[in-house]
Amino acid sequence: MAKPAPNRPLRPATLLVRGGQMRSNLEETSEALYLTSGFVYDSARQAEQTFTGEIQHYQYSRFGNPTIEMLEKRLAQLEGAEACRATATGMAAVSSAMLAHLKTGDRVVASRALFGSCHWIVSTLLPRYGIQTEFVDGADLEQWKTAFKRPCQLVLLETPSNPMLELVDLTAVCDMAHKAGAIVVVDNVFATPLLQRPMKFGADVVVYSATKHFDGQGRVLGGAVLGSKKWIEEVLQPFTRNTGPAISAFNAWTILKGLETLHLRVPAMCRSAAAIAQMLEERAEVERVHYPFLASHPQYGLAKQQMAAGGTLVSFDIKGGKEATFRFLDALRVIDISNNLGDSKSLITHPATTTHMRVPAEERARLGISEGSVRLSVGLEDVADLIEDIATALDAAAGNVAPPRSKSAGKQVLEEAGPAPAEVAAPRSKKAAAPARAAKQAEPDLFAEAMQDLFREAEPAAPVAAAKPAKRRKA
Ligand SMILES: Cc1ncc(COP(=O)(O)O)c(C=O)c1O
Repeated sequence: MAKPAPNRPLRPATLLVRGGQMRSNLEETSEALYLTSGFVYDSARQAEQTFTGEIQHYQYSRFGNPTIEMLEKRLAQLEGAEACRATATGMAAVSSAMLAHLKTGDRVVASRALFGSCHWIVSTLLPRYGIQTEFVDGADLEQWKTAFKRPCQLVLLETPSNPMLELVDLTAVCDMAHKAGAIVVVDNVFATPLLQRPMKFGADVVVYSATKHFDGQGRVLGGAVLGSKKWIEEVLQPFTRNTGPAISAFNAWTILKGLETLHLRVPAMCRSAAAIAQMLEERAEVERVHYPFLASHPQYGLAKQQMAAGGTLVSFDIKGGKEATFRFLDALRVIDISNNLGDSKSLITHPATTTHMRVPAEERARLGISEGSVRLSVGLEDVADLIEDIATALDAAAGNVAPPRSKSAGKQVLEEAGPAPAEVAAPRSKKAAAPARAAKQAEPDLFAEAMQDLFREAEPAAPVAAAKPAKRRKA
């Protein structure tokens, strides 16, 4: 059976690989996937005792499942939260957290810089149930202060926000919200628990779309709600058990395996994002770059206080409106146009016509989302390839180069860039191989250079003294 856990705190990388694992008596290495909707009982008495709560026994995967429980435990340990419930999507996490806590007559205050669907819940859904809602500019503490003059039950905010990477001062807002009687729900998707743990600053509930960095490889949807044991068990759980936003065990398992590399992926993506943000600031075609760890970000000081790094997303405004921006997006050859984020593949989106299309134009303008705004989710490709892709596409956007080929043609270019068949097949004769070798020498060896970069920091810090070769004895 599983070894007892060490009685000392473990570091995030260890928690991401091992946190929450429950081994069966078969002693499997990897977390088991319990792909089952229900569970059986030894006897009618055992079933009865399970339902009365006298004994602990899995009942039904809408209520609980061992694979899902492993994910919940791992996320709770990582976040430093007492409890977690995984959900089918990030939106199931946000809507469950809000609807479980609220009732008719309550009041919600939210920062207006929210993901489109979260914005819809606050602006459209909650008022239908007699819940008053009010938006404030998240960065403006005076607006929060005014909003909290009236009693309030729940605050919803994102920091950094989707898509313009605006920050909210968590300590100040949590403080004011608690005095007004509200719990604070933070959507921490953009930061991930590695860059920011909102509960440290006073947040009561943290929600995630696990679809993003947690899976990190664009495979499955998922979500999570984290909070105190009391709130999760007494407020959230009755709602989720009876309304059914449960995650599938397969998706939970996929996310568990994704989490095992989160601490390797996110810092690498942040390093590339920072390099791209810097490069974009120098381009004349770019009106403005939004990245929390750029000194030009209006909340740079706050970002440094709240976050460990600037994040994996960079937003920027391209000069020349929608037409120039679409020219830029269509000219990208490595980065894909997609509205997802947090993936190992770099993805770019035009919020005004996609994720934030349904946010009224006036509200979009207040959020700073223009026809030229794009949101780039930086992936794990070589940053030099990403920078070259962006630079070439910006040239195209400005009309400095011939019109780009269609996207499918671009895909073909990537395929063409793979090794030529002549290089892969063993050369038939030395004579035939000679021209190929000459061509190889002329080109930089991108593979060798990239490997050198990747492993530069892999040298031992203090080289072990080389053992002196034993002196040869004279015969
Ligand atoms: C900040 C934020 N919150 C919530 C969600 C919703 O997540 P999901 O698509 O998993 O429902 C998203 C999705 O893009 C998001 O960006």
